[in-house]
Amino acid sequence: MSCLLKKFKEYYGIEATTSAVAPGRLEVLGNHTDYNEGLVLSAAVAQKTEFALAPVKGNICKIHDFRDNSTHEFDLNDIDKPKGNWTDYVIGVIVGLKKKQIKISAFYAGILSDIPLSAGMSSSAALEVSTAFALAKEFNIELSKLEWAKICQSVEYDYLGLKCGLLDQLSSIYGKKNNLIFSDFREEKVMENIPLNENFVFVVANSLVKHNLVDSAYNQRREACENVVNIIQQTEKIKSLRDVSVDMLELYKDKLPRFDYLRAMHVVLEIQNVRDGILALKNNDINAFGQLMYKSHQSSVENFENSCEELDCLVELSKSIPGCIGARLSGGGFGGVSIHLVKKEEIATYAERLQIAYELQTGKKTEIIICEIGDGAS
Ligand code: GLA
Repeated sequence: MSCLLKKFKEYYGIEATTSAVAPGRLEVLGNHTDYNEGLVLSAAVAQKTEFALAPVKGNICKIHDFRDNSTHEFDLNDIDKPKGNWTDYVIGVIVGLKKKQIKISAFYAGILSDIPLSAGMSSSAALEVSTAFALAKEFNIELSKLEWAKICQSVEYDYLGLKCGLLDQLSSIYGKKNNLIFSDFREEKVMENIPLNENFVFVVANSLVKHNLVDSAYNQRREACENVVNIIQQTEKIKSLRDVSVDMLELYKDKLPRFDYLRAMHVVLEIQNVRDGILALKNNDINAFGQLMYKSHQSSVENFENSCEELDCLVELSKSIPGCIGARLSGGGFGGVSIHLVKKEEIATYAERLQIAYELQTGKKTEIIICEIGDGAS
């Protein structure tokens, strides 16, 4: 019996009937390209969220978080508005099902997770997807993986108002052990699993910066991208930034608001970085791959402005500590995590040196997480 199932029984006095797990993810290359019909290389991590449940009579659901022993209750007849706490990621899935005329009955649930919260490793997507997979099993709901990914995305997009793309949910569902997954968001599918050189590991350094305007900054970036598409569309046949090249952007530079031009440039460059990254991996040129990670971060700094001092410091330090071949911010940005691709045999010394150097330079602490690449939800 898993640790969660045991805790569930102790806490509720009944056995859980279903459980599911879903991992967090790392965005490896392709920053903010998903909602622009772009390309992304990502990976599911071994860190995951487990969700267990048992059906109960009535309309009241209970969820217990075994990390901090907090419990929340909600009435299935009163879920249209978010509650303002983490249970919204669970409730939002039920709301998404309701929109598809799929009804579920009440349950008691328990969760356990080792994904750092709000750090940029998609703890929220992991909670949505583990909820979705557990509900699917318990209530015999037959939907495709893509439909589930979209229901989970709608939790953020419709229920909570963060206009995110499909990356986090797709990665948590389709992740493949020891592989990066290459996704095309025009096709809305994973095109290929690409093995990562086994001598390298992703080390995550959490800046521990939580920007409280993340959601509005994120939505503004998305609007800037859409604005560029609207302007170029007046004269060119394009559907999204996926259809725009650097040359085309340069041609329209004078017609575009300066910041919108820069945001779009980041996305266009990132889509190309993913293409180049795949080639580098296939040629086993891991150093070239590392350089693309640095290039990506530089564009976040100069063009997309979704980095922060702390992330820049972590990425800069990585260049002077032996063992690392590339680093960048990962995920939405404005704080959160940086990822560092490090030689396996050097991870312990690398992590220690990075922590010490970062504290010396900033007076602040960073949290280090070694990320094995794991499988998707089950
Ligand atoms: C967040 C969003 C994703 C994606 C990334 C940036 O994680 O949820 O959809 O846009 O930021 O690539």
